[in-house]
Amino acid sequence: MCGIIGATGQSAVTEILLDGLARLEYRGYDSAGVVLQSDGDLWRARVATGTRSLEDLRKVVDGAPHAGEALTGIGHTRWVTHGHPTEGNAHPIMDCSGRVAVVHNGIIENWRALTARLVSDGHVRNSDTDTEVLAHLVEEELATGVSLVEAVRATLREVNGTFALAVVCEGEPGTIVAARRVSPLVIGLAEAGAGGEELGEALLASDIPALIGRTRRLWALEDDQIAELRPGSVRVTTLAGKEVEPSVLNVSRDLEAAEKGGHPDFMGKEIHEQPRAISDTLLDRLLPDGTFALDELRISDEDLARVDKVFIVACGSSYHAGLVAKYAIEHWSRLPTEIDIASEFRYRDPVLDERTLVIGVSQSGETIDTLQAMREARQWSAKVLVISNVVDSSMARESDGVLYTRAGPEVGVASTKTHLAQIVALEVLALHLAQLHRRMPPADARMLFASLEGLPGLVKEVLDREEQVEKVARKFLDTRDFFFLGRHVGYPVALEGALKLKEISYVRAEGYPAGELKHGPIALIEPGAVVVGVATRTRLWEKMMGNVAEVKSRGATVVLVANDGDHDTAEQADEVLWVPSTDPLLAPVVDVVPLQLFAYHLARARGHDVDRPRNLAKTVTVE
Ligand code: F6R
Repeated sequence: MCGIIGATGQSAVTEILLDGLARLEYRGYDSAGVVLQSDGDLWRARVATGTRSLEDLRKVVDGAPHAGEALTGIGHTRWVTHGHPTEGNAHPIMDCSGRVAVVHNGIIENWRALTARLVSDGHVRNSDTDTEVLAHLVEEELATGVSLVEAVRATLREVNGTFALAVVCEGEPGTIVAARRVSPLVIGLAEAGAGGEELGEALLASDIPALIGRTRRLWALEDDQIAELRPGSVRVTTLAGKEVEPSVLNVSRDLEAAEKGGHPDFMGKEIHEQPRAISDTLLDRLLPDGTFALDELRISDEDLARVDKVFIVACGSSYHAGLVAKYAIEHWSRLPTEIDIASEFRYRDPVLDERTLVIGVSQSGETIDTLQAMREARQWSAKVLVISNVVDSSMARESDGVLYTRAGPEVGVASTKTHLAQIVALEVLALHLAQLHRRMPPADARMLFASLEGLPGLVKEVLDREEQVEKVARKFLDTRDFFFLGRHVGYPVALEGALKLKEISYVRAEGYPAGELKHGPIALIEPGAVVVGVATRTRLWEKMMGNVAEVKSRGATVVLVANDGDHDTAEQADEVLWVPSTDPLLAPVVDVVPLQLFAYHLARARGHDVDRPRNLAKTVTVE
């Protein structure tokens, strides 16, 4: 979840570094820093001022003589994993002599043992980070007279854990050595300068947006590969020292799409991009004969037809999308489908074999828990596919198949458009499975697909009512506790509504299956409690309304998501969030939208930064 940037060229790279870090800010950070190199000397600037860190770093760099003229540099935004978010723990981290500098994402698991050894050998610790051992180990290796790349290679043989890292040293001006294991890293090469007399910059970053607009020549570093970057050149070798061709990345995202487009924040913009995200995800998926075109799936129809069990693994909002899919897959294809929180899956001894289909759901495609769950599944020979929003993400590259959501880059930390796109992609996959398992004739699939295609219009109708939702949200400015209830596919909607609210408004919000109410949570219902219920007309509407009556009779204030014109539901509510109706299994895509808007407006009215909620990061690459 930290961000890394690096550049080396024949003219100043300072702006590339600062601008690249700013473009990675959606990953979340509590501190930031750069090391700049000119004439061999390393100059470091670090700040730890929370979400102001990048702004403050720029001020420090702008105020330093010659900092703007550096030809080589590495930079980092840190989201604390070890030690406190202080300036001293911010990266780049240096060795004892200040001649080696390292930026690092991930965790060095054996850092304690290595630190003890290094300290007993006379090294002086200057931070509380696990990263620092890397700087001292490289320092030791350089002292034996080897090159920087060999020093890094030897260092990596000593460490356990995960890393994306970049290292510079005073002895080799103009060289950056980078490496990865599990944590992502991309490298690139800019075109030669005007006239061709100046070599293009060699670049690296932890994520593609940092380099968009700088070059389209990008490669993904694979696990245990080491890259040497020099002006105009990039060389990649394995940990064993064998030279390899890095895999080329297809970059289709443009920077403009990552700007706010007139909205006060990215989250607001992304909520309004949802109709487009859904229609793009559905585009060209249905063939005229009623079958599906899922090209990237790469798992043959025969193999999918042999599948006898499905597992879904995911975290957070992606888990909620997966929960909707469980209902759809079981109902449409009758395949037994289990869903797991990814961080639990691999530790519970799941029963898998080559006829099991494991679906990872992840907008980033990098979430370590989901990635590791999918790796576990592969070890059992299960077919593994991922629903991801990021082309060439780690999960996409490591799976048997991919189904891309086409939501475009999502910058707001709280997922919105990628969540809806995930549900839609999963439902297309569910229809495909239902056909292959001969549970659904093409005509029915066509009809349901037409309903999916109707969703962007319905979501737009809800977005057009934003002002009404905002009015309702403002009535609850002082409420500290919310209960979200739903049944059947309304249950994941309730979970997602609660998650959005707690993430960005910092109030307690719990989601429950409404039937569970009387098994415990009802003890908390008293006058003043606020219950938000998903009460659209699905199969279990009557039972849901029974639960609403229970909380009302105990004095709760009730907000209900209800279908347009449904006065029976509205009569039971203190406030109504109206939505148009659709097929019950598709309804979560529509029903969750007023809950996103509710959370969004409540958070804004409380004065919170909805794009960068405290303690959260967009991509969670540590367990
Ligand atoms: C919630 C949110 C998180 C993510 C979760 C998984 O708004 O954004 O709960 O859904 O961290 O992330 P991905 O989908 O990237 O694997």
